Amino acid sequence: MEPRRLHVACIMDGNGRWARRRGLPRTAGHTAGEESLSDVVRAASKREISHLTVFGFSTENWVRPRAEVRHILGLHKKLFGRVKELNENNVRVNWIGRPFDEPGAKTPLYVQRAIRKAIEDTSSNTGLVLTVAFDYGSRAELTRAAQNLVRTGQELTTQNLASHLYDSSLPPVDVLVRTSGESRISNFMLWQIAGAQIYFTERTWPDFDAVELDAAISLVKN
Ligand code: FPP
Repeated sequence: MEPRRLHVACIMDGNGRWARRRGLPRTAGHTAGEESLSDVVRAASKREISHLTVFGFSTENWVRPRAEVRHILGLHKKLFGRVKELNENNVRVNWIGRPFDEPGAKTPLYVQRAIRKAIEDTSSNTGLVLTVAFDYGSRAELTRAAQNLVRTGQELTTQNLASHLYDSSLPPVDVLVRTSGESRISNFMLWQIAGAQIYFTERTWPDFDAVELDAAISLVKN
């Protein structure tokens, strides 16, 4: 039997705490978080997971100290630049978030370019779909979807609204992971997680690994 293909979504929390416990600056925690993500992507690509969606940067994160924001943005450039290993693992990059040309959108040009290039350079891969939520907020996504329906005079139905989300091809989330002992949803994929199991772990994101990923997907296997 064809194995069930799952959609796993991750709120990657606790980079700051990981760093603090080691007497390191917060930025070192984010650097470790990006490396952990790269390991988790590789592990996910070898499991019965068709979609991995991660919360890279929220619409609320722009108010963090400038140097920290700059560092996290640089890590996105690094992640989107990992084309060689993404291609080796047959991973296709995807993005959800506020459209770059929308009023209030803040994604700098170099991040826009990195996102576009990673999408293009991995577009022929057929395995795991890695969706990075960048400048993403679920309320903004849902409000925009509803506004699009109103503007175009369409009926407000569940199906019509779903078809106006940032990426309507994303399947519903099967498992939502939140690391670092927090049990909040933080405005992440409110529509898509309606039927998801939630896996909370005490581990900080830089310590999240393949064993943890297996524990998370075991919530929905069989
Ligand atoms: C939370 O840690 C994490 C984020 C701000 C978003 C996730 C960012 C990364 C994992 C870095 C690299 C990721 C990508 C996609 C390139 P926190 O600062 O809130 O930790 P704390 O709650 O312990 O302070």
